[in-house]
Amino acid sequence: MDAEPVVARTRAELDAARDRLGGTVAVVMTMGALHEGHATLMRRARESADHVVATIFLNPLQFGPKEDLAKYPRTFDADLELCTREGVDLVFAPGPGVVYQDGDPGVRVSAGRLGEVLEGHSRPGHFDGVLTVVAKLLHLVRPHRALFGQKDAQQLLLIRRMARDLDFRCEIVAVSTVREPDGLAMSSRNTYLNALDREVALTLPRALQAGLAAAIEGPSAVRRAAREVLVREPLCIVDYLVLVHPETLENVPEWYRGEALLAVAARVGTTRLIDNMPVLVGQANDTALGVGVPSAITAGADTRRPVRDH
Ligand code: PAF
Repeated sequence: MDAEPVVARTRAELDAARDRLGGTVAVVMTMGALHEGHATLMRRARESADHVVATIFLNPLQFGPKEDLAKYPRTFDADLELCTREGVDLVFAPGPGVVYQDGDPGVRVSAGRLGEVLEGHSRPGHFDGVLTVVAKLLHLVRPHRALFGQKDAQQLLLIRRMARDLDFRCEIVAVSTVREPDGLAMSSRNTYLNALDREVALTLPRALQAGLAAAIEGPSAVRRAAREVLVREPLCIVDYLVLVHPETLENVPEWYRGEALLAVAARVGTTRLIDNMPVLVGQANDTALGVGVPSAITAGADTRRPVRDH
């Protein structure tokens, strides 16, 4: 039987357990409700370091007043089982009072302009909340590398930027989106979908795939192909569909050739879903879902840092 990870609930417990971990440490940050996508991150973490730390913290700072914090799934026992199965050494599962000792922090990390577009436009302040907690968890856990999913491409980009701009001594590693066999990107929010919603939700990966298939013809063909799939499903209420530069998140112009990010957000029933795919504009792309094309976001060679021992 696999050994259960040490569970730390307080800063003192975390410090004591972290000090006992020799060698390199990789962290996987989560808000709980763990699924196969998180398990994949943990496996990759395991391959890349001597020890794996998982954090489970439902961060109130990144939820808007009208968002789903109260109903967000809380499944700690099952989460711990998954961590055990994946060989996690240490789980840091603090309450809000441990992370935000003095209540809501007056000083926060600002995501800047990149945090105001796309997800940030629909969810003002969301990325400041994400970056603030990620910064705190990086300080508390002291990992050599931290792994994040490409599914949240804007989050990943902003965390990379923060690590680079604010000189975090931690390597940020991207992991390709993990999908269900039918193509739906794994997400803790998928548990909100009823059977009909679940069917409708497939419109997102199908639209992205259609866009990918049109990549050789240029940006407007990509957008058109993806939009055509989305408009055929009236139960899928689109927030945005964009083809943007992966580093600036600006719409790519018609003459653009090279790497771009095709991203979509839509409401299905009461659930807001996001998905994205890297696209090589002007080239034939591999349209098999789950088979990622090389990506600045995925590979991120420019922003990787050498691993150091603390
Ligand atoms: O992606 C998530 O689950 C969260 O945004 C993160 C990175 C754990 C910060 O709360």
